[in-house]
Amino acid sequence: METMEILREASKRIYENVKGIAGTEHAAGDFGIGAGGDISRSIDIIAEKTVLDYLKEINFECIVLGEECGRVELSNRSKGYIIMDAIDGSANAVRGVPFFCSSLAFATEDKLSFVTDGIITDLSSGEMYWASKNKGSFFDGKQIKVHNEYPIYKIIGINTSGASSKLMKRLSPIYEEHEHTRHFGANALEMAFLARGVIDVFIDLRGKIRIQDIAAGYIIIKEAGGLLLDVDLNPLDADLSYETRISFIAASNQKILDEITKLIDQ
Ligand code: IPD
Ligand code: CA
Repeated sequence: METMEILREASKRIYENVKGIAGTEHAAGDFGIGAGGDISRSIDIIAEKTVLDYLKEINFECIVLGEECGRVELSNRSKGYIIMDAIDGSANAVRGVPFFCSSLAFATEDKLSFVTDGIITDLSSGEMYWASKNKGSFFDGKQIKVHNEYPIYKIIGINTSGASSKLMKRLSPIYEEHEHTRHFGANALEMAFLARGVIDVFIDLRGKIRIQDIAAGYIIIKEAGGLLLDVDLNPLDADLSYETRISFIAASNQKILDEITKLIDQ
């Protein structure tokens, strides 16, 4: 079975298993601190278990790097890494805000730049975004590209959850200049929106985001023709480690990237 088929089936099973849970008391059950450093909620655990059970069922030889379960070696003849954020946007999922997703990626080596496949599933609708290296990005079967014409409304996604006042000050020229800034609360799905061309930029400069949250978005944006840069404006890359926390800027093209970075650097 192709890797993408495996990721797709795992995502489908997550959707089926968490469909009725979001926003209920059941979703919120506290399972203590997970490997990623946040409290694991019952909806996170159900979603991760779904993936682990499936990978075991098909004997997929890999190392899983899950946000809650940590590193799980399913074989000592591993083909690579499954990077799993089974629920991205857990706070939304627990409260019932219909903006949360699953993010699954596969990497052949211990580096973000070795991600070959990624899939993000909008768990409110079941819609899927996926990409495999050199094969393009897709949204529910149709190829997607970042937005490259001048947009009617320029939409700038900025993750400011828990941002310091220093960062807010640095970002303030963007808020002054752009009327349509957004943050929906699930980085992976916001990256998928950029790839699909419905937002133009997505910025997270908090230095807080984990590899699990962005690994699938990374390949989906790249294959859709978008740019992904680190804080020094170099191509984004990182180790797949639990200590790694990153900042990044994703943009649909160089022109809009320049517009935004000029404002940040002021
Ligand atoms: C969270 C979301 C959110 C971001 C947080 C992440 P999680 O992921 O991506 O947008 O602001 O930093 O932790 O914890 O729900 O998987
Ligand atoms: Ca999560």
